[in-house]
Amino acid sequence: MAKTKTAYVCTDCGSEYARWLGQCTDCKAWNTISEFRQAKAPARGGNFAGFAGATEAKVQTLDSIDLTDLPRFSSAFSEFDRVLGGGIVPGSAILIGGEPGAGKSTLLLQTMCTLAEQMPALYVTGEESLQQVAMRAKRLGLPTNKLQMLSETSVENICNIAAKEKPRIMVIDSIQVMHMSDIQSAPGSVSQVRESAAYLTRFAKQHHVAMLLVGHVTKDGSLAGPKVLEHCIDCSIMLEGTADSRYRTLRGNKNRFGAVNELGVFAMTGAGLKEVKNPSAIFLSRSDEQTPGSVVMVLWEGTRPLLIEIQALVDHSALGNPRRVAVGADQNRLSMLLAILHRHGGLQLNDQDVFVNVVGGVKVTETSIDLALILALVSSFKNTELPQDLVIFGEVGLSGEIRPVPSGQERINEAAKHGFKRAIVPFNNMPKQPIPDMEVIGVRKLSDALEVI
Ligand code: TYD
Ligand code: MG
Repeated sequence: MAKTKTAYVCTDCGSEYARWLGQCTDCKAWNTISEFRQAKAPARGGNFAGFAGATEAKVQTLDSIDLTDLPRFSSAFSEFDRVLGGGIVPGSAILIGGEPGAGKSTLLLQTMCTLAEQMPALYVTGEESLQQVAMRAKRLGLPTNKLQMLSETSVENICNIAAKEKPRIMVIDSIQVMHMSDIQSAPGSVSQVRESAAYLTRFAKQHHVAMLLVGHVTKDGSLAGPKVLEHCIDCSIMLEGTADSRYRTLRGNKNRFGAVNELGVFAMTGAGLKEVKNPSAIFLSRSDEQTPGSVVMVLWEGTRPLLIEIQALVDHSALGNPRRVAVGADQNRLSMLLAILHRHGGLQLNDQDVFVNVVGGVKVTETSIDLALILALVSSFKNTELPQDLVIFGEVGLSGEIRPVPSGQERINEAAKHGFKRAIVPFNNMPKQPIPDMEVIGVRKLSDALEVI
């Protein structure tokens, strides 16, 4: 009998080592490396039911591969489809990650109940009892007569049952409670999570079933994070949002069938998750009175613009080491912008606490936030409000130059659509034709922008 292979894997980034280390040399996290026993490879010929096709491998040219099965099907939520790159691809393995309570089970239950009307669908729950799921479905008023339910945590059993039931889409809720009999370690350990996911993915590919895997992300990393299985699945998407906020955002981390920068927005209501078709409107629900330090900017998320509000508070610090806090924006970028503001804007904030917040729990990773952030800081520091109908975007370089950002024209159009009358944008993003009811001011340097306001 072949010996089982042991490896050591970082639960945060998935790097593999031959021996145990205290710190992962790749992602530099401490105490994240744990032992991982690979399952014995299945005997040649495949000794489990339904794995036809595992026996013979043949070589063929790319163009001779049958593509007729590939058309995607819609997931019943257009926001979900958008993040997936246009719908669910049959035979793909999709990981839905998120903190406990984010709404993963709710989202998938709603999706599956609707999809079950059109195709065979199987929902496997290992976390909640069948009664709990049924009660939730009933409370949410979902169609329940078609969806097949299974309460099971053994991956082999699930695959054997699925091979008989032949669903076209199935949900595994969640991958952390699944286990395989070949592996000794407890469910939730790196070995179990990785091997279970690999087994289920293989099943999905061979049977052309769309496989949706739920994965919990925990802050302390006590459970194997979804990171360790990102390489074996096709799409990894995260459902994010704090428990105290109504809004949840769905974002792709990896997608073999589409772009990853799409953002889907949902609202958690008493009747489950609802799509937010016009997210700009909710992130912008401001009071009528304009306050210092508040600025509206246009973000570009995947294929659409999103208007969001940024707030800054600059206040005299009682500490020797003033605080710099950024919520929803990058902390290092804030420090850099403060340095640029000092050097090229002549504004010294060394003795001030600086707080920045992106309203609505949105996380901004784009550089187009730079100019809006700087002007919000100036507005708060000078205690003067900016006009309510003003929108700002642009990247700021280290020498104080304002750099253009992609899709400038579409961003300005979106702002005009929501009733904004003025825009401060990078000079190279100036629209070719004037936009009705919109005064666009192009700036080349930070000092120009400061003069304008
Ligand atoms: P759930 O889908 O169980 O989260 P996950 O599977 O990601 O752990 O969602 C749990 C949260 O959603 C819970 O805190 C309550 C809230 N919720 C609502 O506000 N309204 C609803 O209709 C439902 C079903 C849940
Ligand atoms: Mg759940």
